[in-house]
Amino acid sequence: MAGGRTRVSGRAAALCILTLCLGCLHVIALKPQLFTRLGDLPFSAQTPISYQTFYFDQKIDHFGFLEDGTFKQRYLVADKHWKQPAGPILFYTGNEGDITWFCNNTGFMWETAAQLGAMLVFAEHRYYGESLPFGQDSYSDSKHLNYLTSEQALADFAVLIENLKSTLPGAQHSPVIAVGGSYGGMLSAWFRMKYPNIVVGALAASAPIWQFPGMVPCGDFYKIVTQDFARSGYNCDANIRKSWKAINNVTSTVSGLQWLSEEFNLCSPLKNVMDTVTFKNWLQETWVNLAMVDYPYEANFLQPLPPWPIQVVCKYLGFDSTVSDYELLHGVSQAAKIYYNYTGTSSCLNMSQTATGSLGYLGWFYQACTEMVMPMCTDGIQDMFEPEEWNFQAFSDECNAMFGVRPRADWAGTVYGGKDIASHSNIIFSNGGLDPWSAGGVNYNMTESLVSIVIPEGAHHLDLRYSNDHDPPAVRAARALEVKYFQKWISQAKKAPQTSEPNI
Ligand SMILES: *[C@@H]1O[C@H](CO)[C@@H](O)[C@H](O)[C@H]1NC(C)=O
Ligand SMILES: *[C@@H]1O[C@H](CO)[C@@H](O)[C@H](O)[C@H]1NC(C)=O
Ligand SMILES: *[C@@H]1O[C@H](CO)[C@@H](O)[C@H](O)[C@H]1NC(C)=O
Ligand SMILES: *[C@@H]1O[C@H](CO)[C@@H](O)[C@H](O)[C@H]1NC(C)=O
Ligand SMILES: *[C@@H]1O[C@H](CO)[C@@H](O)[C@H](O)[C@H]1NC(C)=O
Repeated sequence: MAGGRTRVSGRAAALCILTLCLGCLHVIALKPQLFTRLGDLPFSAQTPISYQTFYFDQKIDHFGFLEDGTFKQRYLVADKHWKQPAGPILFYTGNEGDITWFCNNTGFMWETAAQLGAMLVFAEHRYYGESLPFGQDSYSDSKHLNYLTSEQALADFAVLIENLKSTLPGAQHSPVIAVGGSYGGMLSAWFRMKYPNIVVGALAASAPIWQFPGMVPCGDFYKIVTQDFARSGYNCDANIRKSWKAINNVTSTVSGLQWLSEEFNLCSPLKNVMDTVTFKNWLQETWVNLAMVDYPYEANFLQPLPPWPIQVVCKYLGFDSTVSDYELLHGVSQAAKIYYNYTGTSSCLNMSQTATGSLGYLGWFYQACTEMVMPMCTDGIQDMFEPEEWNFQAFSDECNAMFGVRPRADWAGTVYGGKDIASHSNIIFSNGGLDPWSAGGVNYNMTESLVSIVIPEGAHHLDLRYSNDHDPPAVRAARALEVKYFQKWISQAKKAPQTSEPNI
């Protein structure tokens, strides 16, 4: 999910890759940047990966009978290490974006396949990547968007797995484990809850299943972002907190607007107060995204970045209290350029591009505007942002203006159980202490088999990434424990076969 917010109106949560800025749901943020921009990838995945691509005819509507059409759901299969018959299947529950991107960024599955003798399947989420229920018309209006729900996506996964098991020789008795990160992690947890007949367990990495109304304090997300900056350099959070007023001051004149635009090398110069609001939202989203990808080594998830990017950013923000507005904002521009120009290839900073183009922002906005209502708020004291309350009504009005639909604040809690999920089993919730999304995650062991793994020095689903020499010990331990649970679930499944086929 993306980090983000709504400023003019209420604030949405940024999820998606969770970097999909749920929070970025800002009217002007409704920029048509959508899902076409494919980021260039200067750093490729560590291990060469190879898979086959398939398309499955999936029902557009699993829950009603009038709409009988189908669409092609894309999925990727890698069976190089698969031990058949009955070797396990690790099934990635695709989230809001191009499935090949998640496939490339989930090295943990690639590294675990050999050890488990597992087949890997990566299933694309409907309405993202190539899996468009109505082709180019899928996003044309709310009638076409009507089938974009997490429930439909889970049903797609279930039907696909049943089909694979009945058609792939040797797969009939294969135990399936769901794996996902961010919104994909929410899906993997919910998949195990709703379809325990289909998957024997789930790894839900950085899955904020409690970032819904009434479940966690709305300010915790931005508090964690702020803590990341506070621990990464002298006065770093304090100077960012100060920068908002400095921006207001400087942009109060035409020459100040021009100065700031040039200082940041903005592609489109700021012209008025509305642009200044957009600018501040964009900066805020930049800090959130940095918190999500504060990895200990050079990586390209949302953007190409150096190791511990927040420490690098904070080098430009270590001013003492006497700094002038202009000096401070010069530092902020240097800091922002670490995020947007680390490779030195951007000619100007584009406020409508904050992260990889492999994520489907518009689809995520729609989901945030319907089921995935994630309250976020700031107070400017415990966090380094301008104060802004969570305002459901304003958010709802924004959604209505954008899509002609209104969010249902309580539905996610009703359909997925909220905090009352102790009757479920075999789910690992892993969270990174640096990741703002951990605020909405499960961070304690609920039962024997609803397990929480906390990685203090981990950003957004660090455990799902390829292993790296610079991995902190806690993430190595987390991965080892995750594999141990996988093995346990697999051997449990062998003792009690899931299928009802008579044993002769
Ligand atoms: C900024 O990004 C948007 C959305 O990707 C794109 O349409 C626009 O052309 C970009 N502007 C510049 C100047 O690069
Ligand atoms: C995934 O990696 C392959 C090469 O391994 C590359 O061709 C492809 O563009 C990548 N996909 C995305 C969405 O980054
Ligand atoms: C902004 O302008 C006001 C009034 O000129 C000044 O008191 C203040 O120090 C300036 N800077 C900040 C960061 O508020
Ligand atoms: C990005 O870095 C390159 C190389 O240092 C520089 O030439 C270019 O002006 C920078 N772009 C921006 C937008 O600052
Ligand atoms: C949950 O239990 C596991 C052992 O099964 C332990 O490693 C982990 O640290 C516990 N999680 C928390 C948050 O205490």
